[in-house]
Amino acid sequence: MQTVVLLFMMGILDLSISQRYSQFQWLSHLRGRRQYATWQAEELDCPLECDCPSAYPTAMYCHSRNLQHIPVVPSHIKYVYLQRNHITSIQDGVFDNATNLVWVVLFHNQLSSDKIGKNVFSKLKNLDRLFLDHNELTRVPPNLPNSITDLRLGHNRISKILSKSFEGMANLTTLHLQANVIEEVGGVFKGLKSLTMLDMRKNKLRKIPDNLPERLQQLYLEFNNIESVPADFLTMHPKLQFVRLAHNKLTDKGLPSNVFNISTLVELDLSFNKLEKIPVVSRNLENLYLQANKIKEFSLGSFCSTVDMTNFSKLKMLRLDANEISAKDIPAEAAYCLRRVAFIDV
Ligand SMILES: *[C@@H]1O[C@H](CO)[C@@H](O)[C@H](O)[C@H]1NC(C)=O
Ligand SMILES: *[C@@H]1O[C@H](CO)[C@@H](O)[C@H](O)[C@H]1NC(C)=O
Ligand SMILES: *[C@@H]1O[C@H](CO)[C@@H](O)[C@H](O)[C@H]1NC(C)=O
Ligand SMILES: *[C@@H]1O[C@H](CO)[C@@H](O)[C@H](O)[C@H]1NC(C)=O
Repeated sequence: MQTVVLLFMMGILDLSISQRYSQFQWLSHLRGRRQYATWQAEELDCPLECDCPSAYPTAMYCHSRNLQHIPVVPSHIKYVYLQRNHITSIQDGVFDNATNLVWVVLFHNQLSSDKIGKNVFSKLKNLDRLFLDHNELTRVPPNLPNSITDLRLGHNRISKILSKSFEGMANLTTLHLQANVIEEVGGVFKGLKSLTMLDMRKNKLRKIPDNLPERLQQLYLEFNNIESVPADFLTMHPKLQFVRLAHNKLTDKGLPSNVFNISTLVELDLSFNKLEKIPVVSRNLENLYLQANKIKEFSLGSFCSTVDMTNFSKLKMLRLDANEISAKDIPAEAAYCLRRVAFIDV
């Protein structure tokens, strides 16, 4: 695990190393390595454009070097870093010998869906993470291996998700689809038995996706066009803990009563909507964001149906600023019910 973390830091986080090379320095570095390579058996099949340090014999570093094509990946490589290049296509076959690949990192390139071969990823039976964010994809790549647990497709131009896109991906735990132009998803997430996190911020959704997987804990839907929440939304998804719906078009009419009064919920973000009332929430809720709505009254009953010494809300964070109420609208009994809230932002 430690090695994996180190690889991650070298390959992704520590971009400063590669950025320090000017193009010219880069060339002399290449030449130096070439002479040296005969000493290093592993490096022999390392493509010239990349680095395969002997300290990390299963990693191949090819990031930030103006590449337009994916170099041939040798069969012993498990982790390939290709981010921040100008790669526009992936032809069928480039990964054919690299069936041990576990991570493929391709974010910040210029990949378009029409230029990705139909079966480029399908033979990678060990693929665990596939990072394709910040590209120009208009579709989810077809035939993704079922072994993937972390799939990143954010910041692309995906508008539609075909019904079979995620079929059989029973090990997928996190799915990033933020900053695309998706209007609707139908039931595409249904079979994702292991999915715990779904990020669909900054899309064009008009409703909450149907058939969300049962294990889902974190649902991020900020910056969409959602107007309402289905009545059974949280009772159907009993594991949800974090629900973020800020910057949508929610009104009181779109929220069935008690829809958020669910004991598993820890955080609920409804800020920057058009709510006029504080929705009823469970006593177990810890963070509630309601700033920048049109709330006109402070209803203590939304937090505690009865107020006594033993029955109180677990709320720690309550934001109500930029609404149409002020501190004098908060009744004195709020101090009993909301005893864990340090101060209420109004
Ligand atoms: C795959 O490996 C074989 C045997 O080492 C080699 O002949 C072939 O060129 C390789 N193919 C690719 C696409 O690298
Ligand atoms: C899914 O994960 C389980 C447990 O880690 C593993 O045994 C199984 O092979 C994985 N499935 C695929 C298709 O990789
Ligand atoms: C919220 O749900 C709890 C538990 O189901 C229930 O006791 C409580 O009365 C509900 N709150 C309101 C205001 O309906
Ligand atoms: C808290 O209030 C509910 C009704 O809202 C009641 O059923 C329950 O017994 C109370 N719990 C305690 C510990 O007083």
